[in-house]
Amino acid sequence: MSRTLIRGGLVITSAEELRAEVLTEDGRVAALAAPDSTIAQGWTADRVIDATGKYVIPGGVDVHTHFDLPFGGTASSDDFTTGTRAAAWGGTTTVVDFAVQSRGRALREGLDAWHAKAEGNCSVDYGFHMILSDVNEGTLKEMDQLVAEGCTSFKLFMAYPGVFYSDDGQILRAMQRAAGNGGLIMMHAENGPAIDVLVEQALAAGHTEPRYHGEVRKALLEAEATHRAIQLARVAGAPLYVVHVSAQEAVAELARARRLGLPVFGETCPQYLFLSTDNLAEPDFEGAKYVCSTPLRPREHQAALWRGLRTGDLQVVSTDHCPFCFSGQKELGRGDFSKIPNGLPGVENRMDLLHQAVVDGHISRRRWIEIACAAPARMFGLPGKGTIAPGADADIVIYDPHTEQTLSAATHHMNVDYSAYEGKRVTGRVETVLSRGEVILDRGKFTGRPGHGRYLPRTPVSR
Ligand code: URP
Ligand code: ZN
Ligand code: ZN
Ligand code: ZN
Repeated sequence: MSRTLIRGGLVITSAEELRAEVLTEDGRVAALAAPDSTIAQGWTADRVIDATGKYVIPGGVDVHTHFDLPFGGTASSDDFTTGTRAAAWGGTTTVVDFAVQSRGRALREGLDAWHAKAEGNCSVDYGFHMILSDVNEGTLKEMDQLVAEGCTSFKLFMAYPGVFYSDDGQILRAMQRAAGNGGLIMMHAENGPAIDVLVEQALAAGHTEPRYHGEVRKALLEAEATHRAIQLARVAGAPLYVVHVSAQEAVAELARARRLGLPVFGETCPQYLFLSTDNLAEPDFEGAKYVCSTPLRPREHQAALWRGLRTGDLQVVSTDHCPFCFSGQKELGRGDFSKIPNGLPGVENRMDLLHQAVVDGHISRRRWIEIACAAPARMFGLPGKGTIAPGADADIVIYDPHTEQTLSAATHHMNVDYSAYEGKRVTGRVETVLSRGEVILDRGKFTGRPGHGRYLPRTPVSR
């Protein structure tokens, strides 16, 4: 039996903050006890970690990553090896990535392909959602099988006609299926056909720079799609999870639905909380670094996102980590913003940026853990993750809340040649990371290994 004792820290979960010693045994949390209690004093361990002056928090759960995703004529630059290692550096010990159904192919083929990409390569535990690009009789039947084997959530796109797009009829059918089999529909809510018209008109007018990506993908078209997705889910009797919410008008749609008591949930991402259309407008094509969809919004939208995270109208912050190098990848869209591969890096930065949100007074410490660890684990059927409690997986981060750091591509571990947060000063940093009781990051030294991370079949969430 391997036992680790974490002493002297402040344990923070979504439910409480307490001075406690944490004992892990064979990969799980065995017990917590008050520091001076006779119980704690009787504990022996193979390894003792001194967390004096530090936070002891659950490992982060990032339920939105795209490793090795073919997109826009290239592929995201982090694969499962580099992406999960960067996650570990950033205090995230669970990722849920999106397997992709190619048009005209079976879900099974897509899921098998993602298993092959991940197996043996991950430093942290991982699960899969499935992107449905082609909803038909066959796909709908396969959804039941996938739910049964632990791939319990399905992303649909109201955007990207001709690529991932589903029409309202297909969306309704998939939602009806999910209502029956316990799956969760995740929605990319933007009105793609309308956006495509505006893209064509912008390019015809000679508006080719990155900032026009933000102008054509209008907040109103995110809100309209969010509203439509909510009504379709309501008709189907299915719960709905809207991914990468960025527009204040979309938050309002979610809030309205939740006031009606509907099982509607929303996720936002650090880029929408910390970056804006100012970044998209950076000169010399630098704005391409910030092209993602939904797009970055004018700064005014951020207040609504923070408010949503405090009130509970938004439940989760994940990264939508989908990195493309500036050199050679983002550059594909020089002269035509619609050809810039969509996506931002961030899997390594999420826990730190959200801690900075605590420092800045946007959210409390417990809310930090709720939106970054506990809620994503609960909502996506990962019962051993997102908390520090007896029986939970010993995925634990020793977090130093006082040390300052500067985010930079020069020091990050993501396989991408720029940082979306270059030069940003944040207070706090990940010091030590345990994944199922194994130390995978030890005070600035990576001690994990590809293949340590296990596939996590997920359970459908009861409703
Ligand atoms: O721009 C983004 N978000 N790229 C990743 C794919 C998606 O829509 O989530
Ligand atoms: Zn999306
Ligand atoms: Zn995504
Ligand atoms: Zn590259």
